[in-house]
Amino acid sequence: MGKKVTVVGAGFYGATTAQRLAEYDVFETVVLTDIIDGKPEGLALDLCQSRPIEGFETRIVGRTTGVDGSGYEVIEGSDIVVITAGLPRKPGMSRMDLLETNAKIVRGVAENVAKYAPHAVVIVVSNPLDEMTALAQLATQFPKNRVMGQAGMLDTARFTNFVAEELKVPVSSVRTLTLGSHGDTMVPVPSRCTVDGKPLADLLPAEKVEELVVRTRNGGAEVVALLKTGSAFYAPSAAAARMARAVAEDSGAVMPVCAWVDGEYGIGGVYLGVEAEIGAAGVRRVVETDLTAPELAGLKEAAEAVRAKQADVADM
Ligand code: LAC
Repeated sequence: MGKKVTVVGAGFYGATTAQRLAEYDVFETVVLTDIIDGKPEGLALDLCQSRPIEGFETRIVGRTTGVDGSGYEVIEGSDIVVITAGLPRKPGMSRMDLLETNAKIVRGVAENVAKYAPHAVVIVVSNPLDEMTALAQLATQFPKNRVMGQAGMLDTARFTNFVAEELKVPVSSVRTLTLGSHGDTMVPVPSRCTVDGKPLADLLPAEKVEELVVRTRNGGAEVVALLKTGSAFYAPSAAAARMARAVAEDSGAVMPVCAWVDGEYGIGGVYLGVEAEIGAAGVRRVVETDLTAPELAGLKEAAEAVRAKQADVADM
């Protein structure tokens, strides 16, 4: 049987994710839902009509859902559900400013996912990311490996892009890594960054690397400030779609994601940005990498910061 993936939320992030997933042409069905009447149906129709031009067969189904959960039966049998529902930031807002509003939205969505797609792997992208991922696990009561969040791949992609632009080299020659939270305690890992295999530290002065790290940490806010009416979606949707594809293909790809960490790096019981091997069951395992002492300290600090916030969402 062909694979079915659902994207909840038909804003720019959700619609672009649905488009990327459909254009991979590896799924039988992509479902797109939203609470705005007609929007997911309209986008799905439009996407379906692009199939003869782009040359893919995946069927895209749109469905408006009600606050009472009506319409959710469309997600039945989904192998993967990507939750993009929630409000994006406005200029000047931190991701954390969205906590209470998005917690209500994500909890409602997660409960319906548990009801209608009880075997799905859930990929959360709503902000604040680490907290919404923890909340989705609580609300679905799915095994922790079956719920993960998208952020590390996005933050890493931003870092890679900035390094490539700075050094005027192809992005394909650059490897970077960011761990920790998708927020103020994001932990870029310069010791794991290379250009054509050479350590980044040999190619750029420490102050320049730090400048790029700061720009990476503020990468989302920089786009929000320019757009004024929403947040980034091209790079975020590329990352979420790749994660969904790794699940669908049971590929074992290792990517930075927000995953449940319990013991790795000496950190216990928290959703945190780490590298993980992704397969059909979601996170197969967290992959530990060698970190310098300051990087490890940064990761532990991030873990404690998100742990405190994740405890708050239990009652939201
Ligand atoms: C960003 C948002 C999507 O980083 O969190 O762009």
